[in-house]
Amino acid sequence: MRIAGVIERYRAFMPVQDNTRVISLNEGSTPLIQAYKLSAAIHPKLEIWLKYEGLNPTGSFKDRGMTMAITKAVEDGFKVVMCASTGNTSASAAAYAARAGIKCAVLIPEGKIALGKLSQAMVHGAKVIQIKGNFDEALTLVRQICSKYPICLVNSINPFRIEGQKSGAFEIVDAFDGVAPDFQAMPVGNAGNITAYWKGYKEYKAAGKAANLPRMLGFQAAGSAPIVLGHPVAEPMTYATAIRIGNPASWKTAEEARDESNGVIGMVTDHQIKEAYKLLARTEGVFVEPASAASVAGIIKLSQNGFFDNVEPLYGEMIRLVCILTGHGLKDPDSAIAAAEQPATLEPNEEAILEVLGMLEPAFA
Ligand code: F0G
Repeated sequence: MRIAGVIERYRAFMPVQDNTRVISLNEGSTPLIQAYKLSAAIHPKLEIWLKYEGLNPTGSFKDRGMTMAITKAVEDGFKVVMCASTGNTSASAAAYAARAGIKCAVLIPEGKIALGKLSQAMVHGAKVIQIKGNFDEALTLVRQICSKYPICLVNSINPFRIEGQKSGAFEIVDAFDGVAPDFQAMPVGNAGNITAYWKGYKEYKAAGKAANLPRMLGFQAAGSAPIVLGHPVAEPMTYATAIRIGNPASWKTAEEARDESNGVIGMVTDHQIKEAYKLLARTEGVFVEPASAASVAGIIKLSQNGFFDNVEPLYGEMIRLVCILTGHGLKDPDSAIAAAEQPATLEPNEEAILEVLGMLEPAFA
């Protein structure tokens, strides 16, 4: 069976006409993986599922929104698209623009984007411009330029991005036969994705396709936590470069998602993110980029604070929680190598290898 992209699969919910030329890389339909060991390690009442968005065509959730944004840009006659990015948006925009046969320009903070993401924007032929500033400054410039010239802005302030990204919520509800999870946890950067998911859940419920709504849990990195602190952060810091954002464009709608859903937007330290990153890779075999691990770090923190102790599950015995794992680990190989034991370098000699493997230790004996 051919599995189509998100516009075709959820056409009734997408702003397209019958004759719209859809630009797609068959994004979406990402795995929803039950995390037994992680659940048991975090809280006895939690049933955690991982929505592995790193398996989208360019390795992040951005593709769900980019198919819609580029489809509309082409329909509206644009020949050039532009975005500011911490990396993933630029990778996705570059790929979809290539697919559409239009030009793409990306503004990225110099030295602060992961290697894989930079390589993607470059190989797809985008004009890549590094600025000596941060993401927030880059986005301000992109907004200014796109307001003056016939260039389509494809950051998540483009409403079509949100329309496409809401498909993630549809897939989760469909996977659970019309029931939304009790909670959904995700990292928050520019706050487009939390906005999109909440819109998706609400639309699905209004259409009679979801029985309930989840409580939304969003997590920022402590050095880049404007929504938690209640004010913009002029110089955002975090090793999770994807969410190194001090003044999110969709701030207000993120707060609405939190408040309407009786949810939480909290923050986690870089250390907590790193620990969750390693835990996911080693206990569940799921490799994500650091920012994606903020969702798992966040639920560990909430659990330690007793947050889930008195929660009544909507159905059954367990509290069902879906973690959105926004980007693939291969995006950021430097972080992976820094977080792990370095490989042994040996002569091509059997004994030396056996010694390193500890073949005489009980585990191998
Ligand atoms: N996770 C990853 C891997 C991301 O790349 C981003 C955002 C987020 C989470 C946060 O999503 O911004 O919708 O709240 N990356 C953007 C970019 C900013 O330019 O790639 P958000």
